[in-house]
Amino acid sequence: MALKILNEQMLHGGDYNPDQWLDRPDVLQKDIEYMKQTRVNAVSLGIFAWSALEPEEGRYELDWMQKIIDSLYQNGIYTVLATPSGARPVWMGVNHPEVLRVGPDLVRNSMGVRHNHCYTSPYYRQKVWDIDKLLSQRFGQHPGVILWHISNEYSGACYCPLCIAEFRRWLKKKYGTIQRLNAAWWTAFWSHTYNDFEEIDPPLDRGEHYINGLTLDWKRFVSDRTHDFMAWEKQAIRAGGSTVPVTTNFMGFYRGLNYFQFKDVTDIVSWDNYPLWHTPEGNEPMAIDVSMTHDYMRSILDKPFLMMESSPGPTNWQPVCNQKRPGVLEMTSLHAVAHGSNSVQYFQWRASRGCHEKFHASVVGHDGTNQTRMFHEVEQVGKRLAGLSRICHTSVRARTAIIFDRENFWALDGIAGNLNPEEGKSGADARHYYDLVKDNYAAFWHMGIGVDIVDSVTDLSKYSLVIAPMLYLERPGVVENLRRFTENGGTLVGTYLSGISDENDLCFECFGPNGLQDVFGLESRELDCLYPSQHNFTEYAGRRYELSDMCDVVKVSTAEVMAVYGSDYYQGYPVLTRHPFGKGCAYYLSSRPEPQFFFDFYNTLADKIGLSRALGHASIPAGVSATVRENEEEAFLFVINYNETAAEITPEKPLRNLETGETETVITLPPYAVKIFECDVR
Ligand code: GLA
Ligand code: ZN
Repeated sequence: MALKILNEQMLHGGDYNPDQWLDRPDVLQKDIEYMKQTRVNAVSLGIFAWSALEPEEGRYELDWMQKIIDSLYQNGIYTVLATPSGARPVWMGVNHPEVLRVGPDLVRNSMGVRHNHCYTSPYYRQKVWDIDKLLSQRFGQHPGVILWHISNEYSGACYCPLCIAEFRRWLKKKYGTIQRLNAAWWTAFWSHTYNDFEEIDPPLDRGEHYINGLTLDWKRFVSDRTHDFMAWEKQAIRAGGSTVPVTTNFMGFYRGLNYFQFKDVTDIVSWDNYPLWHTPEGNEPMAIDVSMTHDYMRSILDKPFLMMESSPGPTNWQPVCNQKRPGVLEMTSLHAVAHGSNSVQYFQWRASRGCHEKFHASVVGHDGTNQTRMFHEVEQVGKRLAGLSRICHTSVRARTAIIFDRENFWALDGIAGNLNPEEGKSGADARHYYDLVKDNYAAFWHMGIGVDIVDSVTDLSKYSLVIAPMLYLERPGVVENLRRFTENGGTLVGTYLSGISDENDLCFECFGPNGLQDVFGLESRELDCLYPSQHNFTEYAGRRYELSDMCDVVKVSTAEVMAVYGSDYYQGYPVLTRHPFGKGCAYYLSSRPEPQFFFDFYNTLADKIGLSRALGHASIPAGVSATVRENEEEAFLFVINYNETAAEITPEKPLRNLETGETETVITLPPYAVKIFECDVR
């Protein structure tokens, strides 16, 4: 039942915190009235309600929640029921400080804030189990409950003695003997050889920092612990008898967790989207960024996801809390749908009167009326979503994948060499890993070609084109994965700083890219790094492009050279090569070209390998995107104008507007407009 609802209608709603208003029946009644007016059909309930649910240790009060869920359901509003583990009641922090986190300075936090809990504490786990199971027993079969929202934005790490002991156990399980660990971490360096697992600490503020294998394993451990905690919560829900699907709200490209690892405990991916529109750079860069994040989130399970949170107006924690201009809420909401979201949920339904988020936008503000612009715009989103149920059965079916691998990111974040962390920038950011991924992505965005963002061990067999930027760390199976893909007819694009280290961040004893030299038909001989103001250049297909960051000096064996460096001592050495391998072909890019290069290069390549474009070869104006959601039977084209000025597209053939039924020969797009058309299945 729950799954059926999730598959058959777009959800509209948001975080609902009636636990802050339990003494105000008038407010709760208004909420229902306004929800109906805005066509809200699903709200997330109880995310931070632990103290209302268990006001004193062992004394549970669930009746208020029952009343809310009943009343919502009677009014056609479903509940996305949260487990309250994201924040704990004061009594718990005060009486059982072991639940509170310890930082990398080894100091334990006091009771306060949220997401301040140890994932290992047996007491905390037991308390979470008890309340999750109870919620499941009481509400898990309620026809109004369609989804579990497990915890909230899992994040952070704990360095308490319990977590450190657990880390040592985790290492022992992984390596078996301390000798194996020493070898994997190369601990003879600086005389850091361990005699016993008990001697190992996580990377601490005043402790070990320079064993890359340790840092990497700690990050994996933190991700594992969090995954284990979520699995525990899911188990408690199942033990309480509920079979309703579960999700947890992810945070896009959040660095602390490997979200791809959560595939097995997540029935539906959901994430919280807080873009910054109206920046001085205009909306296009943000539109590309957010599109890529939606695609990344969708790619985890390769099916529609939910946008679990978004702000209807100013987001109070951002540097500038500006208003969304009229129409932008609709644009940003349908933008998520265009990339595979089956929901538009807001943080938050009603503004709290006090504390940290009182100035965060909400559907209902402090005035408590339905008279605000924001309210009317939410109403408008609700109206449009109600007409889009058909789209729920479709998703983006990309034939291009870009690899963004979290473990690779962690490794790039930890090393010293090539481009080092600058002030305020982590190592991976100084190396522009994300930026390089995004530059590649942007080219496809501009062409209207759908892209999945996957990790390096994802099965690649359904793709025609796979791009693996800066794949420095090769996880087990990655070499085989990329070889198989290319051998079977795929087109692979690799870049500088790839195939250098194994999963422990131990360098391979060869010229890179390890295991792929014959795929690319070359070897990387040395890597030059440029100051931000320095550039090399290349010429390709009659145009000159600036090169930045790193210049890989490669020696080709069998690859065909397509472009070369224009200056410096490696002038004439390859910048771009092409090499047939098996039934496929592999390209190698030795340096970081300006974004225009990617557009020009992929534009030709896309036609060569027959990638379909949302709007064919119609020209797409700057700041406009075209994406397709489809299944075997039907396809829907979303055209979005992120600009504050109007835009126009002449499609190759007239298109039928899904919502108006009219045929459009020229697509006119007022500022921030989103139009949805029926189109041919690819
Ligand atoms: C996060 C949290 C919410 C809320 C919003 C505010 O996404 O999950 O509880 O704090 O931020 O933007
Ligand atoms: Zn801990």
